[in-house]
Amino acid sequence: MKVTITRLGHLGDGIAETPEGPVFAPRTLPGEVIEGEVLAGRIDAPAIVTPSPDRVRPPCPHYRTCGGCALQHASDGFVARWKAEVVRTALAAQGLQAPIGAEHLSPPASRRRAVLAGRRTKAGAMVGFHARASETLVDAPDCRVLRPELLAVLPALRAATVLGASRKGEISFALSATDGGVDVAVSGGREPDAPLRQSLAALAETHGFARLVWNGEPLALRRPPSQHFGLARVEPPPGAFLQATREGEAALLAAVKATVGGASRLADLFAGCGTFALPLASQAEVHAVEGDPAMVAALLAGARGVSGLKNVSAEARDLFRRPLLPEELGRFDAVVLDPPRAGAEAQVVEIGRAAVPLLAYVSCNPVSFARDARALVAVGYQLDWIELVDQFRWSTHIELAARFSLRPRGAASGR
Ligand SMILES: C[S@@+](CC[C@H](N)C(=O)[O-])C[C@H]1O[C@@H](n2cnc3c(N)ncnc32)[C@H](O)[C@@H]1O
Repeated sequence: MKVTITRLGHLGDGIAETPEGPVFAPRTLPGEVIEGEVLAGRIDAPAIVTPSPDRVRPPCPHYRTCGGCALQHASDGFVARWKAEVVRTALAAQGLQAPIGAEHLSPPASRRRAVLAGRRTKAGAMVGFHARASETLVDAPDCRVLRPELLAVLPALRAATVLGASRKGEISFALSATDGGVDVAVSGGREPDAPLRQSLAALAETHGFARLVWNGEPLALRRPPSQHFGLARVEPPPGAFLQATREGEAALLAAVKATVGGASRLADLFAGCGTFALPLASQAEVHAVEGDPAMVAALLAGARGVSGLKNVSAEARDLFRRPLLPEELGRFDAVVLDPPRAGAEAQVVEIGRAAVPLLAYVSCNPVSFARDARALVAVGYQLDWIELVDQFRWSTHIELAARFSLRPRGAASGR
């Protein structure tokens, strides 16, 4: 069947409308005429009859099989326009619109945090990403996304898989590039006995890991696995959240500062290990709130280790169940909000009730962001602007930073 792709779905597949309903085709682009056999609404191996002017040669040799990237066949300009359109559509579904400004695209080879899977094979082991929509693993030694430090430990991760994965099961490696080397947190490994502990610790030594944690048990700590957040040095707990690239983190921080830079008392909600709270504490008193107590402890230790910061306080708290209330929010000039994919539904209600003047909202999910934006606009906020920060290059993930300000009473709504 020959069809014309009209749009991309949220997973990056091209979609053609046909009289029989939509047909999905991976790695195709709008405007392309493609041909292939349709099975269950999909053309899995499309021949490109008429390519889009936005089609480019994928830079990675693993792209054909690896599921880690979805949009390497599209130009950077196309991906930027598509991501902006996804955000616009999510806003429109809530009756909103906003200027979408600068797009910050992280360069190739800049991902500093990744989760890879490992599996034993007859010949040894494979470590990499899963193939598209599949349990199959793809070895990706020439991956164009990961930082070179992370690629350099792949042989060590294969060795660790041979040593410590069960015969059939998969093992998972959460990797972070840190100031002290690569931080490796393994889950799903065999329960270690003394010889396995020794072999793994020796592996960490030989390959220069900063830290190796195996099924939650620290097996090696060679150098502090620290990150710099502003003036502070923080040692995140194993596998902790970090912004995906240093460049993305810098762009998000700049956007947050553009919103809350003038504030003298700030709350940073869903604060992680202090990515925003600690740099902002050079200019303002900051109260950081985060659900994970180990991350809160890391943030506070980081704040204690540096002089020249304004007062930093922090608490571990579930902000879905126990959002900060108006009587707690009333003392802040501005709030930074960076929730997980689910968004911050309960918290934005309280921010609205407290009438906090300024809000910097960082989001990795345009749909929950748009829902929360609607709730804020409904109680008198204006969505001033959005910036896209593409730290998930070649993937369909979208990250954005936005500024909300409280409209003066009686002013017209921005909807
Ligand atoms: C997108 S991350 C942002 C972290 C931090 N702002 C940063 O840039 O590194 C979201 C954070 O929210 C935390 N979190 C998830 N659910 C939470 C909840 N219900 N209450 C409080 N924090 C939560 C996670 O542990 C994570 O650190």
